[in-house]
Amino acid sequence: MSFTVAIDGPAAAGKGTISKAVAAHFGFAHLDTGLLYRAVGAKVLNGMEPLKAAQTLTARELEANNLRTPEVAQAASKVAVIKEVRAALVTFQRSFAARDGGAVLDGRDIGTVICPDADSKLFVTASAPTRAKRRHAELQAAGNKDSFETVLADVQARDARDAGRAEAPMVAANDAVTLDTSDLSIEAAVAKAIELVERSRSSVL
Ligand code: CDP
Repeated sequence: MSFTVAIDGPAAAGKGTISKAVAAHFGFAHLDTGLLYRAVGAKVLNGMEPLKAAQTLTARELEANNLRTPEVAQAASKVAVIKEVRAALVTFQRSFAARDGGAVLDGRDIGTVICPDADSKLFVTASAPTRAKRRHAELQAAGNKDSFETVLADVQARDARDAGRAEAPMVAANDAVTLDTSDLSIEAAVAKAIELVERSRSSVL
């Protein structure tokens, strides 16, 4: 049986951590759809044309170890405004969502465009400074030297581009539950997300 959990939200809101934990808790598969756009963005930074980069994307390219850099994040949000690039990535995401045994997909448009019929939808958010603080700590741990201000500006620029684009803009689906993690520990945010998914599961079973 399939059961799809859609988790959307702005940059560095904690979607990744929450999605992984929800998937592990329920034994579902997890797809970080941001990685698809990051991998396409990385190929464009290497000189490939965006649509070709999306159409030729392979699973292996999702494992490249440079996909978490701020440069690639910006490139990702630039290719993500292109309608044809998004269209080239739809089938893969929908097939993943429909797999037997359940799936969690996190991104920007999962609950609105990719899986509008998802069984459970969360919109995970937090204030921009909180998100930038978390991303800054992650980047520092990975050896990046960008200042907090630079990281904050990066997060805000991406949010503006992601929310302002014409195609599949970042927005909470009407039937999504918003989870603001600004004042929550990771454990508390994960527990809340699991509780929300559990609630939808008991209404489906
Ligand atoms: O990890 P973080 O929240 O910073 O970003 P991400 O989820 O890896 O996404 C990187 C970029 O890909 C975003 O800024 C969006 O522009 C784009 N994206 C998108 O347009 N649609 C998705 N479903 C997922 C990501």
